[in-house]
Amino acid sequence: MKTEAAHKIAAPDVIGRSRAMRQLLETATRAAARQNKVLITGESGVGKDVLARYIHAHSPRAAHPFVAVNCAGLAETLLESELFGHVKGSFTGAYRDKRGKLELADGGTIFLDEVGEMTPRMQALLLRFLENGEVQPVGADAASRRVNARVVAATNRDLDRMTAAGTFREDLLYRIRVVHLHVPPLRERIEDIRPLLEHFLSKIDPSVRLSEGAWTALERHHWPGNVREVQNVVEQLSAAGTDRELDTADMPPYAAATTPAQIAPRGGDRRRTDMDALFDSIANGSGDFWHDVYDAFIDREITRHDVRHVIMRGLAVADGSYRELLQIFRLPAGDYKRLLNFLVRHGCTVDFRPYRPGQGTRRDVATDAPRRSRSSGAGAHTGSS
Ligand SMILES: Nc1ncnc2c1ncn2[C@@H]1O[C@H](COP(=O)(O)OP(=O)(O)OP(=O)(O)O)[C@@H](O)[C@H]1O
Ligand SMILES: [Mg+2]
Repeated sequence: MKTEAAHKIAAPDVIGRSRAMRQLLETATRAAARQNKVLITGESGVGKDVLARYIHAHSPRAAHPFVAVNCAGLAETLLESELFGHVKGSFTGAYRDKRGKLELADGGTIFLDEVGEMTPRMQALLLRFLENGEVQPVGADAASRRVNARVVAATNRDLDRMTAAGTFREDLLYRIRVVHLHVPPLRERIEDIRPLLEHFLSKIDPSVRLSEGAWTALERHHWPGNVREVQNVVEQLSAAGTDRELDTADMPPYAAATTPAQIAPRGGDRRRTDMDALFDSIANGSGDFWHDVYDAFIDREITRHDVRHVIMRGLAVADGSYRELLQIFRLPAGDYKRLLNFLVRHGCTVDFRPYRPGQGTRRDVATDAPRRSRSSGAGAHTGSS
């Protein structure tokens, strides 16, 4: 088992010119100094990982390890061993004692990514750790030692709703959400688009130059994949590599598109929020795609743009895979044709390409664990398509 996740990290560059981001960073800095437990929420790709590192790097624990655990990446028993360690012989393959990541994070920060995916049993174990700091390795008769690790957690799930639905423990939520940092989607902080593009251009390929038309198109884009999508677009622009100024014609079609579907219409923000709520309810299982989207569209309660917005949100989580989208929407695999027929027949298809991850752009803080192919929730990705 690799332990490279346990090391000191450099303070990441967090770009944010918008008021929302400046306030967020201020709160994050304050919480970092006080060592409060922090819960970071926000859509996929908004910068939750980067913020968790920022908090650690600005905390009094900066000289100690930052250890990330992806709670969605492992089956329950493996996650337990990953967090708490195990003793030799406690299960097949446990050839020697292994320290858990909580212990590795002693004195530093443990980052519990996708904490909303924890099973009830893991939630109970985590709660016990938060209450007394004791770590009991799998297979051990008693707690081995006390660990002082500061907890930062992240999720793109709505934990309040999960608590109401009984799938996430309320007592655990109160423990981990001492400070709540919600990172808004990029489309709600358009002042950040240009600085982010400049940031990635300077990092990835400073030779790329863009026409004013290209800048405008990029600033108007809806960015459903958030900052990760900005990074992907810059990589694609760099691959387009020429020594002339790049114009809209050189850009990936989805990023250059200025169709109404991609620009928030005036007064459309409320609509968007409604559709975001609708997406969340389908993804967390309290809603139903066929009833809440299909029927609603057929009955003209929602528009084509609304449907496309829900699909975009899904594709952003599904890494651009329509098959994975079925899982995000909690639909059986057999609904694949029915879904595509519906989208095609009513002009609701969405170009999946912007949501395909660029190489090396994802999960840079994730653990070395393989991600399980998922059957529930909207919190995780698999690389498959
Ligand atoms: N404000 C920012 N400034 C600079 N880079 C950023 C910023 N926000 C995000 N990034 C970069 O964008 C990419 C995606 O961000 P990150 O991995 O933190 O998103 P996330 O919210 O954790 O997504 P997911 O929910 O899919 O795990 C990363 O490469 C990250 O470094
Ligand atoms: Mg993340």
